[in-house]
Order: sequence, then structure tokens, then C-alpha cells
Amino acid sequence: MSEGRSRHVIIAPSILSADFTRLSAELADVAAAGAEWVHVDVMDGHFVPNITLGPLIVAAVRRCTDRVVDVHLMIEPADPYLADFVRAGADIVTVHVEACRHLDRTLAAIRELGAKAGVALNPATPASTIRHVLDRVDLILAMTVNPGFGGQSYLSSVEPKIAELRSMIDGRQIYLEVDGGISSTTVGRVVGAGANVVVAGSAIFGVEDRSAAINSIRTSAATPPNVST
Ligand code: DX5
Ligand code: ZN
Repeated sequence: MSEGRSRHVIIAPSILSADFTRLSAELADVAAAGAEWVHVDVMDGHFVPNITLGPLIVAAVRRCTDRVVDVHLMIEPADPYLADFVRAGADIVTVHVEACRHLDRTLAAIRELGAKAGVALNPATPASTIRHVLDRVDLILAMTVNPGFGGQSYLSSVEPKIAELRSMIDGRQIYLEVDGGISSTTVGRVVGAGANVVVAGSAIFGVEDRSAAINSIRTSAATPPNVST
């Protein structure tokens, strides 16, 4: 039996696919539907080929929800903006290993600011790149798409890395999050591989009944298929 099976799975809807003209109502909707976290995708048009939002929107999200605000920074450099995002109300700030020249220092800075520190890995980035910062992280994010856009197809090739990360963090209090192309069809595979936080954008905000969407992800997460590693 895979390690991921008995774990409680946290669901983090990504507001990238929400209706920004009614963000407050959207956040209330997913909170009522049982989402534990809210995932906020920050893109700079440089590290990734898309521009989204900054600390101003994170502050607005903070005012509209009592859920954990999980900020995913797809920006390079990240260091100059960490304080702004924590001040805006981020509970977790995740940076990309590929975007941080001094990763150890950046992760320490996030914790010193009072937030939980996360590190994200693109699909082609090996798990070994973060082996030496495990004491500094509260969350590892394995991207299951190339970051930049919502609604992309899930990359099953990342599954062995999720399993590798799960064994790497065994015994530590570190969340293992996945992000990209997660739906009721794919969630079982990532949870089976060892993930315990799942981000979902289009699978939740792209449908009218968010409660049904979240319930269906949760049900599928509870019955993961066997994933060979
Ligand atoms: C991709 C973002 C994701 C994205 C997920 O760069 O980091 O959080 O919004 O969207 P879906 O679930 O639609 O793939
Ligand atoms: Zn994200």
C-alpha cells in the first residue's frame, strides 16, 4: 500500500480560474464547499510567459477568506517581493527552485517574515535540487504542468518524482503539494504517489457546482489507484 493512501488531503482551489469580478463570492463558495486553502498564482511575464496578480490582490483575498492563503510565486527574482506578500496576508509563500540563486537564504527569509516557506519544482527539475534545504521548508510543490497557465493537461511523468519526494520528506512535517491538471480523474494518481495537498483551478472554478467538484475530487483522492514508482 502506498504511503499516500491514509493521509488527509487538503484541497486548495486556485483562483486563477475564478471570476475576478466577484472574487469575494467565489472565495465564499469554495470555503462553504470545504476547501481548506486558497491558492494564489503570481506570475511575472518573465519566469513564466504570463502575468497575473500581485500583493494587492493577495490582500483582497486575505480580507475575503479565513482559509489558509497559499501564495505560489512564479517570479524571478522573488527576494525583493517576499515582505510585500507576507504583509498582504500570505500564510504560505512558495518560491521556485529554478528562480532562486540563493534558495537557502530565500527560504530562511520567508520564515523570518513569519510565513511558512514553500519550494516549487517544475516538471523537469529533479527532486535532488532541494535535498539540502529540507530543514528550511514547510511545503514542497511538485508542478504537474509547466507553470504559466490554468487548464493545461496533467503530466503523469511527474508521478515517480512525487513518490521520491514523499520518501525524501518521510518523518518530517512538510506538506507535499501538487499543482496543474488536477481533477477527479488525476487526483487519485498524485495522492497514490504521496501528495497531501492538491491545487485545482479549472476543475473547481470552471464548473458551476463547486461543492460537487470538491466532493468529487475528495472522493477520488480517497481511492487512489496503485502508482508504480
Ligand atoms: C499553473 C498554476 C496553477 C493553475 C492550476 O501555472 O500554478 O495553480 O492555476 O490550474 P489547473 O488546475 O486548471 O491546471
Ligand atoms: Zn499554482
